[in-house]
Amino acid sequence: MIRINENYTKLKASYLFSDIAKRVTAYTQANPSKPVIRLGIGDVTEPLPAVCIEALHQATDEMAVRSSFKGYGPEQGYAFLREAIAQHDYAGRGCAIDADEIFVSDGSKCDCGNIQEIFATEGLRLAIPDPVYPVYVDTNVMAGRTGNNVNGRYEGITYLESTPANGYVPSVPTVGADLIYLCFPNNPTGAVATRAQLEAWVAYAQKNQAIILFDSAYEAYIRNPEIPHSIYEIPGAREVAIEFRSFSKTAGFTGTRCAYTVVPKSLQAFDSTGRPHSVHALWNRRHTTKFNGVSYPVQKAAAAIFTPAGQQQVKAMTDFYLANAALIRTAMTKLGFGCVGGDNAPYIWINTGRDSWEFFDLLLNHAQVVCTPGAGFGKCGEGHVRISAFNSRANVEQALERIASALR
Ligand code: MLT
Repeated sequence: MIRINENYTKLKASYLFSDIAKRVTAYTQANPSKPVIRLGIGDVTEPLPAVCIEALHQATDEMAVRSSFKGYGPEQGYAFLREAIAQHDYAGRGCAIDADEIFVSDGSKCDCGNIQEIFATEGLRLAIPDPVYPVYVDTNVMAGRTGNNVNGRYEGITYLESTPANGYVPSVPTVGADLIYLCFPNNPTGAVATRAQLEAWVAYAQKNQAIILFDSAYEAYIRNPEIPHSIYEIPGAREVAIEFRSFSKTAGFTGTRCAYTVVPKSLQAFDSTGRPHSVHALWNRRHTTKFNGVSYPVQKAAAAIFTPAGQQQVKAMTDFYLANAALIRTAMTKLGFGCVGGDNAPYIWINTGRDSWEFFDLLLNHAQVVCTPGAGFGKCGEGHVRISAFNSRANVEQALERIASALR
């Protein structure tokens, strides 16, 4: 008899954003005359930068001609893209990352979800923020690293609480952990970590022979020059951290799909006898076995953002969303809510002081605005909602007017 992976039965029936989409669809079907404004899932709305469109056209033309046609490319990504990333995103910020330490992929969601496969299942101590991007938790549940969900928390995880009391940046735990997930600028809170806070995490990982999985998908939104964009800006991080980056929120690639993961060659993890192994070699083995590379035109489009014109266009796009974020934060603050984020991140985390699904329903039913209920990101998310700055200016302005009327 075929049997299922029973770890899946420990999960909530559906993924947070699918849950929200279902509720919104039900509402729009019941209220076809009331158009909804979506500030829930962080999906971009602005067209791709012009340099990317041009690169896509050129690459498509190359694919149309036998002499420049491309079949399978290198699974890890074309050298032209890996070198551009190493140069602009790392050497440019003083981080020693080589092009062959960069693995190009079709999304950080996949990479953040898949990376756990190369680490032990039994006995691995997990530390995961709360609230958190649900992928980190759910993929570890699927892999069998946790017990059941008891009162909103899985057994076997050390939860790193982000609350108003700690400015939504968790401190290192007092207990040991082997695999630590961090995300800055944070999804969902929009909070950023200072250099000193990241130094404390690197020191903790060194002391515990742990690995930090650092999700910096939103680094392009950092405007405060004091805030590190990469964990590798912290000395010692090459020995304890993997970093995930994405073109989704940086350059509007949510539908185009391109991201990358950095696994330094100096990073080691241990087998049951204590023998060290190269994590880069393990991830390379996994990646080349299960992935056949991102398409050539998409990688050309991604590389185009590293040209001077591309850099300008990406800055203009992220500035645009940050201006939306500033409008949202100002309006919600005016309505009396405590807010964090929105200044170095495209998300605003709003302390509503009430049940987060109830607040979600209130905004949907009375303002026709979709947000994301904080409880969907974890227990500490209760009492909060996340509003995303990804939409047109007109929609954001209208959403804020509607929210103000609904809450009056
Ligand atoms: C979010 O809304 O949290 C993100 O869009 C999810 C993602 O990037 O997969």
